[in-house]
Formats: sequence, structure tokens, C-alpha cells
Amino acid sequence: MADRKRVYVTRRIPDAGLALLRERFDVSMNEEDRPLTRPELLAAIADVDGVLTLLTDRIDGEVMDASPRVKGYANYAVGYDNLDVAAATARKIPLSNTPDVLTDATADMAWALLFAVARRVVESDAVMRSGRWGGWGPLQFIGGDITGATLGIIGAGRIGAAMARKSRGFGMEVLYSDAFRNEALEREVGARRVELDELLAESDYVSVHVPLMPETRHLINAGTLKKMKRTAYLINTARGPIVDEAALVEALRSGVIAGAGLDVYEAEPKMANGLAELANVVITPHVASATKRSRDDMATLAARNLIAMVEGKRPETCINPEIYG
Ligand code: DGY
Repeated sequence: MADRKRVYVTRRIPDAGLALLRERFDVSMNEEDRPLTRPELLAAIADVDGVLTLLTDRIDGEVMDASPRVKGYANYAVGYDNLDVAAATARKIPLSNTPDVLTDATADMAWALLFAVARRVVESDAVMRSGRWGGWGPLQFIGGDITGATLGIIGAGRIGAAMARKSRGFGMEVLYSDAFRNEALEREVGARRVELDELLAESDYVSVHVPLMPETRHLINAGTLKKMKRTAYLINTARGPIVDEAALVEALRSGVIAGAGLDVYEAEPKMANGLAELANVVITPHVASATKRSRDDMATLAARNLIAMVEGKRPETCINPEIYG
């Protein structure tokens, strides 16, 4: 039998994706349930033909040069701020991501955080478990109204638009800010495109859905938080560094905004000092895409992309298609 190509998977992904890879390639994998260190990554991929990467792997020019056989990197995530796209494009190495298959799961989680923080679900749950609840009271756990409120979507791409569409059942007014107009969203939910400052000033819920890029790093900072209503809530399921987390802690502590629901953090797995002590924040461990169907679909899409790249074909969801010129 002709020599099989070798691929490396930087951490275990759902079996559906691994099975596809194993049909064609010799697959080796980081068997430990933790990200690889940089030296471990460099050693593991030195002699393989393709790599399935995670958002916790930094893939830059140094990695690419240290693994000259690699025909492509398939990221198991829609976000790809962990990949140096310019370095790959300069070397004509294709990169891929996993859009679409996690859109609804991520938007659903943004809603879960919105509801949890506005209706104080986690705080209430803690009181019940503690045995301290003394019975119904008229002033207990008063939270924010959702039905009829104004939802501000920063970044009306796939996930932001899905979150906006799901607001229809709650009769919300939808504002969005984006470099591009989303006419379908305007038609479907009557969304209004506004400047970021207007969105911040008018929204009861501000949900972040832009990718992490130099332009969006700390887009939400002490100054922009002050532009929000004191009764408003911030939701972030995109990438942690889009929010200045220390400034957010201060804003939550001093009542600049009412609360926040966060799935992502500036320096994962760490959190800013004081964040976890605040009652007006709901914090989850970067799990927005973590549903059975989404994660299976991410695994099979990433695997199909990797197979294509190793076999010299264009992957379905290529990040840098210009290399095919
Ligand atoms: C992504 O895909 O970018 C998420 O952060 C993880 O699923």
C-alpha cells in the first residue's frame, strides 16, 4: 500500500471528525485534554502533512516554517484570530475555519446569558441551593425586562444576525452597528443600522458579535461602557479581548452598567481580578458552540477541510482563498 499521509490533531475532537480523517490518513493526536505547549506543538507537527488546530493553538510563521510538509491548517472554530493569515498567505498555505455550523448554538448561548443575567437566574439558584430562601417576597431578585426592550447587536454577521432574528418572539426593537449594511436583517426584523455610540446609548442589551482584529480589540472599554445605559447589560460570546475586562469589572462594580453575561475572556483561562466575585455577572467557560450537533458538525467540517487541503484541493470554507489566485 502506498504510504499514507500523516495528519496531526492538536486535541481530541468528536469522533465523527476523527473517523473521516482515519479513513484516509494516519492520524496522531494530543491525547491529553489540554492545549499543547509551544515546544510540544512544534515537535508534534514537524513531520506531518496537515494539522487540525484549535483556537488555543497559535499558528504563526514560525510554526509554518518549522513544519514544511504541512499542506494546510484546518481550524476547529469559526474565529481564527489564532492563525496568522498573512503569514500563511505569503507562504501559499491554505487555512480553513468552521462557519455556519455553530451559528445557532452560539446565538442561543448569547440568549442564555442574556436571560440568566437579566433575570438573575444564577444568583437565585445559589440562594435556593444554600437553603437560605425564606419564601416569596415582593422585592426579591428584581431584574431587567426583556420583552419589548431594545437589543443592540455589534456585528451583524452570521451569529449577530441569528441572535437578532431570535428576538422576534420578544417583540424587541433591534439596532445594529456594522461596517456593512445587512438588508435582510432590516427586512426580517426591522433592524436599524446605527453608529456604535447610538447603539450603546439606546440599547437595553448590547451583544458583541464582531471578530477579534486589531480594530476591535478593546472596542468595549471604560469610555464605551460609560455610553451605555446604567440599566443595560453587556453580552459577549465573541472573543474576550474585544472587551477591556478590567474596565468592565470596574463598570459592573460601580454601577456604570447593570450586568454582563460572558462566555469569553481576555486571557483565557484566566479572568480579570474581581470578575468572579461580582453578583451581576454570569460567566461560562467558552462553551457557546458546545452542543452535540454543533461540535459534531465542526469536527466533520474541519476534517473535510483538512482532507481537501492535504490532497491539494481547495477546502470548503477557506480563509485565504486568494492563494488559489
Ligand atoms: C469559535 O468557533 O470561534 C468558538 O469560539 C468556539 O467554537
